[in-house]
Amino acid sequence: MNILIMGMGYVGVTTALLLTELGWNVTGLDPNESRIRMLSQGVLPFYEPGLDDALRKHLASGGITFTSEVDMAVCDNEVIFLCVGTPSGSDGSADLRFIKEAAESIGKNMPGYRLVVIKSTVPVGTNEQVVQWITQAQLTAISFDVISNPEFLREGSALRDALEPDRIIIGSENDQATERLRSLYEKLSCPVVVTKPKTAELIKYAANAFLATKISYINELARLCTKLGVNIADVAVGIGMDHRIGAHFLRAGIGYGGSCFPKDIHALLFTAQEHDLSLTILEKVVQVNQSQAVYYLDIWEQLLGSFNGKTIAVLGISFKPDTDDIREAPAIGIIAKLLKSSAVIRVHDPVAKLPGSMYSEQLQQFDSLEETIQDCDAVILCSEWKPYITADWGQLKSLLKQPFLLDGRNMLDGAQLTSQGYHYSGIGMNW
Ligand code: UGA
Repeated sequence: MNILIMGMGYVGVTTALLLTELGWNVTGLDPNESRIRMLSQGVLPFYEPGLDDALRKHLASGGITFTSEVDMAVCDNEVIFLCVGTPSGSDGSADLRFIKEAAESIGKNMPGYRLVVIKSTVPVGTNEQVVQWITQAQLTAISFDVISNPEFLREGSALRDALEPDRIIIGSENDQATERLRSLYEKLSCPVVVTKPKTAELIKYAANAFLATKISYINELARLCTKLGVNIADVAVGIGMDHRIGAHFLRAGIGYGGSCFPKDIHALLFTAQEHDLSLTILEKVVQVNQSQAVYYLDIWEQLLGSFNGKTIAVLGISFKPDTDDIREAPAIGIIAKLLKSSAVIRVHDPVAKLPGSMYSEQLQQFDSLEETIQDCDAVILCSEWKPYITADWGQLKSLLKQPFLLDGRNMLDGAQLTSQGYHYSGIGMNW
């Protein structure tokens, strides 16, 4: 079976390589020609550990090819995965422009039956819309099926998550189409849930929103721990051992970021609003997240006296480690607040880069950790990259003007650093 993946972003490239790994012939399509050139040369357009090796391996074996020619690609492939972006519109709703364009080009160019699989995160009801868009674009009526098959992989561990999913969700109205899609994944050993398309669409949003809820819950509790002198990490261990709660997504910090949680929760709130409903818990989840970094920055500013005129190192600008993605990263909000407070900011990240337009005399990025923290009054840790966890902070201390370590991800050993003479402060961390 020949498979086409439309959209060579994060999910598209990973899905393409997963299906190639599972033994299928895969073509990756994207209108961005320079992206296609890069991929054809074995270069990923983003940072993702392990994915570049898989790309080069499958290019060499001929299992995967890339193109920008949509007409031919739709002609040559019986199964088409939609992995195009669904960015946030100005009102928080998901912008389905790219989904519509993709559906219309399928309708125009399909020479025979096509199985269309929606992997992009799309609002409830999009499956039905895609059916309409394809039908309207067809010159003659040709049969097709549209299945909703959301993706649950994480940046930083994309290939592993794709190869070892917890479950596969298939939202389908047609048994034959369901079996066809199931057969594509038959080498993966995980439960397969077959349900209605609308349910599959909602499962994706509900999963992300629930994970974000766990994070905001633990983050708000961390504020209470800061006041009570209790250690939030110990609380998380204690409650996480109850299998009804689960140990994951209970790491307190300066808040969740990335291209998924913030965007998807807004889209879900928008859907609820369209149906005259308020999802009040989720509204609070967003509020807690938006105020979490600010809450701790205020505490840290009091520790320092003021940020005004101080030199602050901000380490880890990506929204989490092992990615170069800075979309909605808490570090970006922290930098904006520090700029307003007239601090001088020295930034470091093992991979991610600040956009050139952000640089100024007040804000610079450096390549080495040592150079970044040189003569700083404080270090703020924003994402838990391994080089920061394994750094020899005992040695690095001599480079600092003042030994303030402000740990936004609770990634370091506060007790040990305090005994080494640091003024250490984490998120609800007490010992
Ligand atoms: C998230 C979901 O975890 C994936 O299942 C989903 O497929 C994906 O969104 C998506 O919709 O595409 P991702 O955004 O890549 O994946 O990253 P996560 O590992 O979920 O982290 C999101 C944010 O939550 C990060 O800023 C991270 O630092 C933060 N986080 C995570 C915490 O603050 N505490 C935790 O305990 C866990």
